[in-house]
Amino acid sequence: MPYITKAWPPWPQFVESKGELRAGNARYKQEIIDKYGADGIRQSWLKTCKALNALTAEIAAKGSAIIPVLTLDEILNTSEESKEELKDVGCFVVRDVVPRPEATAWFQSLKQYVADNKDEITGWPLETPIILDIFHSPSQQAARSHANVLKMTRELNSFWHDESGVTSPEQLSYADGVRIRTPGIALADSYNIDAGSLARWADPSYRSVYSSIWSGEPEKHDPYNLGLRKEANPKLFPGPAHSSILRTFQGWLALTEAGPGDGSLMVYPNVKVVIAYVLLRPFFAPPEKEADLLDAEKWSLDLESNWYPGTFSDDSQLLSPESHPHLRLEECLVSIPKMYPGDTMFWHTDMCHAVEIDHNGAIDASVIYIGAAPTTHMNLLYIKDQWARFKNGMPPADFEHGKDESTFKGYVGEEGIFGGEAGKKAAGAI
Ligand SMILES: [Fe+2]
Repeated sequence: MPYITKAWPPWPQFVESKGELRAGNARYKQEIIDKYGADGIRQSWLKTCKALNALTAEIAAKGSAIIPVLTLDEILNTSEESKEELKDVGCFVVRDVVPRPEATAWFQSLKQYVADNKDEITGWPLETPIILDIFHSPSQQAARSHANVLKMTRELNSFWHDESGVTSPEQLSYADGVRIRTPGIALADSYNIDAGSLARWADPSYRSVYSSIWSGEPEKHDPYNLGLRKEANPKLFPGPAHSSILRTFQGWLALTEAGPGDGSLMVYPNVKVVIAYVLLRPFFAPPEKEADLLDAEKWSLDLESNWYPGTFSDDSQLLSPESHPHLRLEECLVSIPKMYPGDTMFWHTDMCHAVEIDHNGAIDASVIYIGAAPTTHMNLLYIKDQWARFKNGMPPADFEHGKDESTFKGYVGEEGIFGGEAGKKAAGAI
């Protein structure tokens, strides 16, 4: 059954007059043109908009039925052919990664931890925090070091390839927050792509990840090239939204039951074509006549403008129907299937997603954020620093506004890490 939100939620539409017009922004476009040529950019634009015609029709028709749902065994033993299909969609649900009673117990423990330390815990949004700034509760530590979670994230990291031999798919445990969302509170999230925003155009290493897109061959873009991606710097421009590390897949583990409409997640189930469109969009200005808006041929090359639609250097890449019309966001925004405690959802680091605006369910919708993070030089540096901070009662570097959790009631420190040596290694202890 497709779950499609036809109406656009009250999220901002990104327009030039309200954009971040940093002087010199146009320079990044010029540098790309100088290296790859204007013809390639135009070719890619036309090909990508054409590909979106078919893709958006398919997503609008199928809705969330496009999102694959697997068991842990299936994902660990997937054939090469099925793996390619999963990589094409770029997101999937894996059920029962952790037994349901165990995940439910983690939720009870987490609720107690939050209640016991409520005066110290902040989160987003400020007035009614839903995404909480806690990183080392016993439930989070247990979830991140659970043997099945380590196995699965290692498998997801191996979806990527790096022929250099200097990286490995061994999972590193990035300490992230939790979501506990009570029913009835609306959330003003926005459609976004994480892992930096302006850095995709400005950082030469990041830019090289997308060389096929710049050079007129977007169909050859490989979103799973770790060899190139491992050097990209998503935090070239500082900002609280940017993660320092590369997560091959962002993801979370559900602690409670939540169906579509219960404050869960929406995704745009495609990586390759959507990211190509988002990257090419700042190079083109729309036609004068509104009737021509979806005719890609009528858009003209614009290398002068400092505006990157939906791009704010300190925030994630944001999207809206007005700034990104060919994406048909209103129809291609699909809710993920119903989730149960112990299920996980993963989406590619370049995938567009959002937390549902309403929570119409009857119970808390709660998740622990757990991304798949491979062992790369940059990731390892961060995780080693995260461990040093943890041992000194400090929050992770990406979340400096967090508190000293070692003073929290219910904090257990290193004792909370399971999975033996593998759990400790993933946490950066050894
Ligand atoms: Fe996000």
